[in-house]
Amino acid sequence: MLSWDDEVTPVAKPAQAPQPQLQPALAAVTPSASRTPQFNDIAFDPALVSKPQAASPEAAARRVNAADKRIINGQTDVNQLVPFKYKWAWDKYLAGCANHWMPQEINMQRDIELWKNPNGLTEDERRIIKRNLGFFVTADSLAANNIVLGTYRHITAPECRQYLLRQAFEEAIHTHAYQYIVESLGLDEAEIFNAYQEIASIRDKDEFLIPFIDVLTNPEFKTGTIEADQTLLRSLIVFACLMEGLFFYVGFTQILALGRQNKMMGAAEQYQYILRDESMHCNFGIDLINTIKLENPHLWTAAFRDEIKSLFLRAVELEYRYAEDTMPRGVLGLNAPMFKGYLRFIANRRAQQIGLDPMFPQEENPFPWMSEMIDLKKERNFFETRVIEYQTGGALSWE
Ligand SMILES: [Fe+2]
Ligand SMILES: [Fe+2]
Repeated sequence: MLSWDDEVTPVAKPAQAPQPQLQPALAAVTPSASRTPQFNDIAFDPALVSKPQAASPEAAARRVNAADKRIINGQTDVNQLVPFKYKWAWDKYLAGCANHWMPQEINMQRDIELWKNPNGLTEDERRIIKRNLGFFVTADSLAANNIVLGTYRHITAPECRQYLLRQAFEEAIHTHAYQYIVESLGLDEAEIFNAYQEIASIRDKDEFLIPFIDVLTNPEFKTGTIEADQTLLRSLIVFACLMEGLFFYVGFTQILALGRQNKMMGAAEQYQYILRDESMHCNFGIDLINTIKLENPHLWTAAFRDEIKSLFLRAVELEYRYAEDTMPRGVLGLNAPMFKGYLRFIANRRAQQIGLDPMFPQEENPFPWMSEMIDLKKERNFFETRVIEYQTGGALSWE
């Protein structure tokens, strides 16, 4: 069995049909003084288009050398994806695309019937669902803002930017999925979408996160000094290890536990796809953090590590309070104290993944079944009989 945070590889796809070769048609157009100029001659007149091959030695010297690329503070052209240096980022981009899914593909009819049946769910189960959506409907917007308005512009490796663009779209799909569940169940939208301001256990998590996002989205912020580079690294750690890698896990476990009891299986299936995506976001973030550390070892000071440890401890405390608030009593075979162990187990793994010592010795995973939820390489989905293999849209036709 995979461990719950192992890499997720995409399902196999059929081989693509060969793409039409456009370039030879352009190359075949050669201007000639002996005939009347044709339209295409003008359109593709080499005198009117850029001529990279006619370059000066300076232009040739500007060609990107993979060895010169850096994740932050790089001097190479960010518009040139290749030559690759960070192949792991490109591979994750391809895996993310191969895992593409959309919320409307999942049938919510049984969830709607169960939700509307007065005896379908207990009050504690309904509380879990509403609190869950209350956190997630805005959390993924925060995640998207962090990527698009913050992180992206500070990352100078185009392979990593390419993954961040895919990740940003996945965050939009996640917000869409949560909205789709809210709409399907006919929940009070104002109540759910304002929970991050009105429910203390949710607001406290977001208030912890928002300063680390705001600092990157501030137009005045630039990397290039030790202090600024540590600020970026700190925000990347908070985002990958503590937001996507810790703050999502009480909620995911609760909804997936409902699904395991044949309740809210449409919502559980949506969460299962989201969990797979988030697992990859978290792994990408950890690879990004570790590569920045390798390229900039001077940032990883003892004082910085101590600061990160205290952020981990604070995040575990906040997520535990969220567990207590969402589960005032035992429900679905779960209770808040079980999550104390789970959160410590996750925090240990995250710490180790970025090169810190575990903070809570000898914590075991109380929910080993969560590993199966992340492992979607099996032929069929855990809850439904829907085949995972996914075909995006229709093929283009040139006729
Ligand atoms: Fe997300
Ligand atoms: Fe994410």
